[in-house]
Amino acid sequence: MQELKITRPDDWHLHLRDGAALKAVLPHTVRQFARAIIMPNLKPPVRSLADATAYRARIMAAIPAGRQFEPLMTLYLTDNTKPEDIIAANASGFVKAVKYYPAGATTNSEFGVTDIRKCDRIFETMQHIDMPLLLHGEVTSNDIDVFDREKVFIEQYLIPLKQRFPKLRVVLEHITTADAVQFVLDANNIAATITPQHLLFSRNILFKGGIQPHFYCLPILKREQHRQAILQAATSGNPKFFLGTDSAPHGRNRKENSCGCAGCYSALHAMELYAEAFESVNALDKLEAFASFHGPDFYQLPRNTEQITLTKTSWCIPNELPFPDSGLVPLRAGEEITWQMVYKRQ
Ligand code: NCD
Ligand code: ZN
Repeated sequence: MQELKITRPDDWHLHLRDGAALKAVLPHTVRQFARAIIMPNLKPPVRSLADATAYRARIMAAIPAGRQFEPLMTLYLTDNTKPEDIIAANASGFVKAVKYYPAGATTNSEFGVTDIRKCDRIFETMQHIDMPLLLHGEVTSNDIDVFDREKVFIEQYLIPLKQRFPKLRVVLEHITTADAVQFVLDANNIAATITPQHLLFSRNILFKGGIQPHFYCLPILKREQHRQAILQAATSGNPKFFLGTDSAPHGRNRKENSCGCAGCYSALHAMELYAEAFESVNALDKLEAFASFHGPDFYQLPRNTEQITLTKTSWCIPNELPFPDSGLVPLRAGEEITWQMVYKRQ
């Protein structure tokens, strides 16, 4: 296949940051996607409707002139979130979900929840008003091996949570393991997002010829059998699996550091990366539903009507993109990529 025309996609898990960083990265997402679920892990996080309203306005102001993009906002769940916060956010119409980070799990998660079992009043409210819960599904305890943290989260917390709140709609974010795929397949009212890096790379890439900080993200890349399991899930046509890049920009000096930040930057070339992953298993015919249908269907939003074109063309991913303080290194910087996305506004 040389050319693929599909419905314009959306990104159901995205970090946009704020200020000058937001201005540097937003044009990439706006070119690739019509809408995105915006992660709330700013410093301080987006905890209330007032925070989300102000952050949304800053995003809208950073959209390049003449372009259209709809940021779908989320609230950051803390130990102090109250049911009233959730109800008010839901009534706004533009806050679409609540994000759970275990305290200390990842970038800017120090405000996160210290014990998920203490949030039952919030989950009760969310189940009642049918607001989705987005989970960073990893345990944080130091005695659990970093490669097992997703599996242990499912066993220790997610299975009991789904038993307590069977109707609560949950998205298990950026899944990385065969265990997560199996859990999502077996449970009701649950979906999962999948990133390009977890479809394309196993953990071997982290140590290829030396330590490779630009492939370090959380949850960390897993072994090859897990990559194959999530690739199989993404390309299966099952509506429980949909696109979420987890594009997470950190400047070069924060990544190439004695204590480097977690996050891969893929907003520049997300659809091209997904196309390569789907092509690798002859499943390009399943890309449109994964990228453009399953997400809006889960969030009960209309599907986009415009189209994009992916063309089989080789180009070189830049070594660096402009970003405040130091440059931003995109995923697979300096390498050839064999698809190119074109979007013309209709
Ligand atoms: C994200 C970030 O940098 O905000 N990093 C990452 O590795 N994915 C946080 C997150 O989603 O875990
Ligand atoms: Zn993320």
